[in-house]
Amino acid sequence: MAKDPGRVLIFDTTLRDGEQSPGASLNLEEKLAIAQQLARLGVDVIEAGFPFASQGDFAAVNRIAEQVSGEEGPIICGLARASKADIKACAEAVSPAPRRRIHTFIATSDIHLEHKLRKTRNEVLQIVPEMVAYARSFVEDVEFSCEDAGRSDPEFLYEVIELAIAAGAGTVNIPDTVGFTTPSEFGELIKGINSNVSNINDAIISVHGHNDLGLAVANFLEAVKNGARQLECTINGIGERAGNAALEELVMGLHVRRRYFNPYFGREEDSPTPLTAVRTEEITKTSRLVSNLTGMVVQPNKAIVGANAFAHESGIHQDGVLKNRLTYEIVDARTVGLTDNRISLGKLSGRSAVRARLEELGYDLSREDLNEAFARFKDLADRKRDITDRDLEAIVSEQVQQPEARFQLRLVQVSCGNTIRPTATVTLENFDGHEETISAVGTGPVDAVCRALDSLASEPNELVEFSVKSVTEGIDAMGEVTIRLRRNGQLFSGHSADTDVVVAAAQAYINALNRLVSMTSNKAIHPQRDLVDNQTRPVI
Ligand code: KIV
Ligand code: ZN
Repeated sequence: MAKDPGRVLIFDTTLRDGEQSPGASLNLEEKLAIAQQLARLGVDVIEAGFPFASQGDFAAVNRIAEQVSGEEGPIICGLARASKADIKACAEAVSPAPRRRIHTFIATSDIHLEHKLRKTRNEVLQIVPEMVAYARSFVEDVEFSCEDAGRSDPEFLYEVIELAIAAGAGTVNIPDTVGFTTPSEFGELIKGINSNVSNINDAIISVHGHNDLGLAVANFLEAVKNGARQLECTINGIGERAGNAALEELVMGLHVRRRYFNPYFGREEDSPTPLTAVRTEEITKTSRLVSNLTGMVVQPNKAIVGANAFAHESGIHQDGVLKNRLTYEIVDARTVGLTDNRISLGKLSGRSAVRARLEELGYDLSREDLNEAFARFKDLADRKRDITDRDLEAIVSEQVQQPEARFQLRLVQVSCGNTIRPTATVTLENFDGHEETISAVGTGPVDAVCRALDSLASEPNELVEFSVKSVTEGIDAMGEVTIRLRRNGQLFSGHSADTDVVVAAAQAYINALNRLVSMTSNKAIHPQRDLVDNQTRPVI
């Protein structure tokens, strides 16, 4: 049996693998806000990024290592391909964190060796111990991953893993990179590693998996039964292609079915000790923050965090739940932090009341951020009678998107109706403070606004997604708008909320444009698609 922490360690890779989702790119402030929330959620490890990718990625990992770490806080980890330049950049980026980790990887499947790396198995057997030892020369805590382990020859995997552990890897990660395996196959793979790698007791077995066949969470739970003790996952399951195993599903699966899993940890069936250190009440808030900032909308029927996950539509179900919730509910919505608390604040409420509620919600804002949040709160209170926690969260998450603003929306005005052509007038302030106003006609008010903004910004793009949903119920609810723009095959998203959906759409469009401008000038390397020969970090 592998080295066993007695519970499951949660390794969150929302900021690394999650950010590899098309259009999910985040700026530094957004990454920091997510990392702070992940720390509140209680994850064990935050994979904060791939520092060699670009100077922007390096800066984000470095800042998270500086500000989100601590003796009691999560381990801050960076990803590095098995090359000295990557590992060195990673070591530097995570260096401010008292608890830091380098995660280095190389592919082990024949298909990757032949077509991607153009290396032999023997070459890999040489690189692995050398690079793990190199990483260990910087940090105590090194994780090694065999990319595409799910399609690798198990006998070869055993050899690679043994060498990695002998060279000092304290965690060995087994990724199902292309989401190919089935639960029983993946369980068998972990079992085989446990019984065939002679020094496996010196390392924790971790798993990482993609959801191409929708099996990632099931695979992980089978891996846990066979000795895996670290799960690499993302909030809302975002990530490359079909995404990663979803953190909220794994954590709640282990929580709700604790009696089933306890014996695999050598515990009594009814042991009440949690199987993860995650504070489940923070799940909903974390999910919303990640969705808002990445622009990756959560499908309504998504397990645990979808809008319908706790809604009972049919009369029979409603009747049953009213009589006893257990008839149709296996999770109490409050366990994942889903409440409809209303704060008794209105337009006459003061700053300290707003600050106190924000603190209760977990937002510890600086003086300037609080001033801004309060101004937005007042503005909203003028238009909306009841302000819910969800409204406050929308206000705060919107603020995080602002710092890299190049264009600022100064005015938006529309006229529309069944007898006139929808027309929008907008005023945009450029990064140099110059303001310009223009009007445009469109097929609807939002189209007219986007056309007007486009002609002022002059940043060619194609609008590929526009979605609106209401933050809360009621006619005065805030509308949340998510927009995705495409340029040269790359996606850029923007999000905003307002009681006026046209204003929210205009602001979301500007947020997406600002992201497009800042990201296209920040060229980044992709950790899995670009080869290690590229030893120079791209310059912004
Ligand atoms: O999917 C994968 O194999 C990865 C590795 C870099 C861990 O993301
Ligand atoms: Zn991955």
